[in-house]
Amino acid sequence: MNNRISTLNNRENKFNKFIENIPFSGYKLGPGLYIVDIPENYFNNIFHTAKQFLSKVITRKSVLLGDAELYDAINSDEFSAIECITPSGMILPKIYSSIEYNLLMKSFYDLMKDININVESWYSIMPLRYKAAYKENYKPGIQYSHELHLDSWTGFSNFAYCAFMPIIGDISNNYIEFWEPISGIDESWISGFKTISERNSILNNFKKIDFKLSRSQLAFADSYVVHKTNILPGAGPRIGIDNLFRPQWAASLAHIENLHRNSDLRSHLELTDIGIKSYYDFIDDDSARRPSEGGLKSPVGFNYIQLK
Ligand SMILES: [Fe+2]
Repeated sequence: MNNRISTLNNRENKFNKFIENIPFSGYKLGPGLYIVDIPENYFNNIFHTAKQFLSKVITRKSVLLGDAELYDAINSDEFSAIECITPSGMILPKIYSSIEYNLLMKSFYDLMKDININVESWYSIMPLRYKAAYKENYKPGIQYSHELHLDSWTGFSNFAYCAFMPIIGDISNNYIEFWEPISGIDESWISGFKTISERNSILNNFKKIDFKLSRSQLAFADSYVVHKTNILPGAGPRIGIDNLFRPQWAASLAHIENLHRNSDLRSHLELTDIGIKSYYDFIDDDSARRPSEGGLKSPVGFNYIQLK
């Protein structure tokens, strides 16, 4: 068998095992790419706790903004100027939003626990990302996100998977575009830094999938699934969770990944125990600046508290 096809098949076997016990409805969209319909109660929890956290970020008060009010706020120029939002769009938890962020994390990891997937660890505690509304001549803050890319090219493991989940905003016009291999993959495409010409020649082996994630859907994607952020002219902002992790099957393998990425890993057991055994005490105020090592290290400051 062609080497690229057998490499893809090996990856597929692992990925198919990874998704086989998911108890919710879903379907395979392409190789290494699975779409889950999130049950209403789980999505509502995530949506509601995200609203609670964002309301705190916007107003600094313990109030809950209505849907329209919240959308107007995240669609305003003032929103991206809020100090806890990084130039690349990460909305960081701070001292004043610690409880709200723990609740949001809990609602996400409750879903990750009940969805029955075998995960070893997650990169960073959980990133909440903001993708601003369409702007002409927009220069994106993240190096790769608006261009077709693999996350492994930015230092994540060659065996990492990603959970993509839009939560709030203009989900149908500001979305992730996925691409699939045309005929097989080569492992060398996945790991390590690539020059622009290397990237372009790798990307020639993929074709676009005509698909957008809907509200209350999430995608699990293997690290070879090429993707990019797409913001159509006139699109509004989007907020969501794109959270990378190491599947359990790869726990004993030698991962090719950046050391800063590696040092941010947190165990699945710890994260799925939020509110039971775990609490993350976010310790920074808005003025704190942590070294991001060129965007490779999580800028979130916290103490991990074991509750019992
Ligand atoms: Fe990405």
